[in-house]
Formats: sequence, structure tokens, C-alpha cells
Amino acid sequence: MITLGEYIVKNQAEYPNASGELTSLLSSIRRAAKVVNREINRAGLVTDIIGGSNGSENVQGETQQKLDVFANDMFKAALEARGEVCGIASEEEDHFVAFDDKRQCNAKYVVLMDPLDGSSNIDVNVSVGTIFSIYRRISEPGEPVNIEDFLQPGVNQVAAGYVVYGSSTMLVYTTGHGVHGFTYDPTLGSFCLSHENIRIPEQGSIYSINEGNYIKFPEGVKKYLKFCQEKDADTRRPYTSRYIGSLVSDFHRNMLKGGIYIYPSGTSNPNGKLRLLYECNPLAFMAEQAGGKATDGFRRIMEIKPTELHQRTPYFVGSSKMVDKAGELMAQYS
Ligand code: AHG
Ligand code: MN
Ligand code: MN
Ligand code: MN
Repeated sequence: MITLGEYIVKNQAEYPNASGELTSLLSSIRRAAKVVNREINRAGLVTDIIGGSNGSENVQGETQQKLDVFANDMFKAALEARGEVCGIASEEEDHFVAFDDKRQCNAKYVVLMDPLDGSSNIDVNVSVGTIFSIYRRISEPGEPVNIEDFLQPGVNQVAAGYVVYGSSTMLVYTTGHGVHGFTYDPTLGSFCLSHENIRIPEQGSIYSINEGNYIKFPEGVKKYLKFCQEKDADTRRPYTSRYIGSLVSDFHRNMLKGGIYIYPSGTSNPNGKLRLLYECNPLAFMAEQAGGKATDGFRRIMEIKPTELHQRTPYFVGSSKMVDKAGELMAQYS
């Protein structure tokens, strides 16, 4: 049995120029994930402390759940405690946060995160997650970190990953050398290698979308949904529909089984709901590393140059042939 810690160190040894800072950063994320996992497991018992709404809104106008804030604080503290990260940006923070003691000012990396994904599912005991994305800073070490360090296109990501707090808790990540999954063993207190080098099937048979918004979808998405529901033996249609409402969980299932997740633009939200920097880019990096694709319906997600921290984008991610087909219909009809 190989633990996540052992696996990261073993892989670092294969890159002679690696300084160990990324290894150490991933360890900080692993540690925070364990704390958040413990609290999520108890959420049904101590609802007054970590269950329900916090009575506040984040900068995007969403009601913050207590666990949104708790997970944000835990990951922020874990990343601040050591010297590898010079700043973070988060769905739950209005602005980026600069870590400015001397050691952190010299650090190479910034982290962008969705600390608690799927927060509407917390109170009903359905899987939620954490998503993270790591970039090398653009500004010179020693200088204060600035907004340009965070507004980098996804192709610049050094590492990305997620934790899914599900029937088992898993941490899945990439450093650009494939996608590897680790399942948490609570009796050992360790994440153990369970899914090495995950490959997403080229063609799956699951589509995931909130069909309640159908009336607002662009024509290309409506045509693609019709395609998913038609009968065709060669492409194993009709596909099956699965939508949890926690992006991480929907993505995780589709990556293992083959499928497509879509959160399109709508008439009232022209850029969809999902956040480019905290949700779409990291999962796009994971998808591509596993052999899949991610687009906004027209363009590769990771090539979009962000202009603001909390920017949203339509999102199509998953099995390459399915994303291609959706893109074809988007080009034709939308
Ligand atoms: P978050 O909880 O981080 O705000 O993200 C919620 C996202 C994502 O997890 C999920 O797929 C999507 O919102 C669900 O949105 P709808 O309820 O509009 O389908
Ligand atoms: Mn939210
Ligand atoms: Mn989210
Ligand atoms: Mn969130």
C-alpha cells in the first residue's frame, strides 16, 4: 500500500530539478483535507456549529454555508502555515489574499481554490468536494504578490486536483504527469493509492446537466440533449442522465465511467454559473491529463485569459468524443 505522502516523494525523486516546495505544498493540502473531511463527517451531528447557513453572502451573491467558511479557513491556514505559497484566491474571499511574511514573500506558488464545492448538498448528506489549482507566480519572489499572478490562463497550471468527500473520501491530483487518485483510510489516517493513472474513456454514456434550466439553454445545447436521448446502437444511445449538483462528484464519476458534464450559458446568466479559476481550469487540467477535453462550447478552457478573479464561464467537460460532438452542435446552432 502506497500512501499519498510516499507517492509524492517518490515522484519528486524522478524530477531532479524539483526543489521539494510543490511536494510540501501538496502535503499542506492533504492535511487540510483531513480536517475538513472530519468536520464534514460530523456535519449531521453538530449542525449548530458547522451545518446550515452562515447568514452571510460571498462576493458572488451566494449564501455562504458554515462549511464553506470553515473549509476556506482550514485550507487558507494550512497554506499560510508554511513557506511555499505567497498568496491565495478563493471563491469565498472577495479579493486575493497575500501572505506577506518574509518567507512567504519569497515563495514561488499561488493557489486558487473552491474550498467547498456543492455546498447545497451538505445538509442532505450528499457528496461535496474541494477543488485546487496551483500556479507559479509571475511577479518576482520578494515582491508582494499581485493580481496578474492569479489571472493566468489554465495552461500555466503546475498542479491541480480535488478532494471528494463521498461514500469514501478521495484526493485526486495531477502535476502534469497523469491523474492519480488516493482513497482515505480513516483507520490509518492516510490517503492510499487506489487509482493510478486514471484515463477517461474517449466515449462515455452519461450526460450531466441541470435540465431544469432547459428553456434558457442555447440552441446548440438543446440539440445536443436531443442527440443524447436518441436511440443509436453504435454510440450506445440513448445515454443515461446523472446530475448530483456537486461538480466535483459529477466530474469524478464521469472521469471514471466516461461522460460529459455541461453547465451552459443561460438567458439570465450569459456566462453560466461555474467559476473559471476555481472550478473550470483545475478540472480542465485533470480532464486533459486523463485524455478528456474541456471547452466553453467553442474554445479550449485552459487557453482563456482571465480578466477577473471571480469570472464565470460556460463549461463542457469530459470524454473527448462527447465534448467534440457538443462543440460541433454549438458551432452549428448557437
Ligand atoms: P459551489 O457549491 O462551490 O458554489 O458550487 C456549486 C456548483 C457546482 O458544484 C454544481 O455543479 C453547480 O453549482 C450546481 O448548480 P445548479 O444548482 O444551478 O445546477
Ligand atoms: Mn458557492
Ligand atoms: Mn463549486
Ligand atoms: Mn464552493
